[in-house]
Amino acid sequence: MADKASDFVFDIWYFAGLSNDVARGQLVRREIAGEPITLGRNEDGTVFAMRDVCPHRAAPLSSGCLKSGTVECPYHGWRFGIEDGACQEIPALCEGQNMDTQKIKVRIFPTQENGALIWVYIAADKRFAGHPKISPPAFPFATGRAVIDDNLTLNCHVGHAVIGLMDPAHDPYVHRQWWWRSEHSIHEKSKAFEPRERGFAMASHSPSSNSFAYKLLGGKPITEIAFQLPGIRTEEIKVGDKTVLSFTAVTPIDATHTQIRQIFFSDHLAFKMLKPIIASGARKFLRQDADMVDLQQMGLRHDPTLMLIEDADTQAKWYHQLKREWAKSRAEGREFKNPVKAKILRWRS
Ligand code: FES
Ligand SMILES: [Fe+2]
Repeated sequence: MADKASDFVFDIWYFAGLSNDVARGQLVRREIAGEPITLGRNEDGTVFAMRDVCPHRAAPLSSGCLKSGTVECPYHGWRFGIEDGACQEIPALCEGQNMDTQKIKVRIFPTQENGALIWVYIAADKRFAGHPKISPPAFPFATGRAVIDDNLTLNCHVGHAVIGLMDPAHDPYVHRQWWWRSEHSIHEKSKAFEPRERGFAMASHSPSSNSFAYKLLGGKPITEIAFQLPGIRTEEIKVGDKTVLSFTAVTPIDATHTQIRQIFFSDHLAFKMLKPIIASGARKFLRQDADMVDLQQMGLRHDPTLMLIEDADTQAKWYHQLKREWAKSRAEGREFKNPVKAKILRWRS
């Protein structure tokens, strides 16, 4: 099962935060797939990411500061260029103490800011310093200010977090509440799925009649739920010409911690006005999942064999297949071939 430290997706773009997480001249710390990262924004507005460990004596560079295109370490003031990570200055050196500081380098991670989303590329090869062959995913609606922005750390490996997120059968149990699901609302569902870039989608459909929460939006909402590697789930709800985009990034911190960040973008007036209610509902959902994760860990400590059944767990199986094919295609230097085939899945929830 997905609980080994090495079991992360590499050679891919990870969501690292929203544009307004990092102001000009600011450094913030991240840890993604076991990599400590300083995410920063230069005075000219460019975002960059470098390894958050000083090559001198390991101080976190994110606790230092930005100085004219370099990051200055808080411990002894060594300065590293934000473009190539090369050391440009060692203040303790005296005249005549010649040392080629440029040979000392901090790992730089390719970074892209698209609309309101910042992406960092994490290569399997720690010496990777080139340009990634693939682009980060595009979400044209994710621009401007998010209406809701929430996050939580789950005490589990990312594999369990992702599978928990795409698992339809836990809804009436973990998320049992009058405005969402009850034991009595369980009925058979049949949904068409299709392959998508690096993942799959539940094709556009009208939400289940037992989803009271959707009724708040009025009109006739159409929703499309998509998942793609490494752990990005989006739900785009259209009501007339208005949109609600729910963007969820499930990001490994290390082998036993996973960051889940849920962000909503919308131009729907009712959605904006209902923000406090929707935000607290979404928060409750995340908490319920986190509590379940903690319970599940009690069992996982005993290293049991786990089961995935058809069709309720088919999406989880696809996730494993996608991960395997991603790693294989990267290792063989070839195009990724999506293993998911269009299929109608049936389950009761
Ligand atoms: S630890 Fe960074 S300069 Fe010494
Ligand atoms: Fe859940």
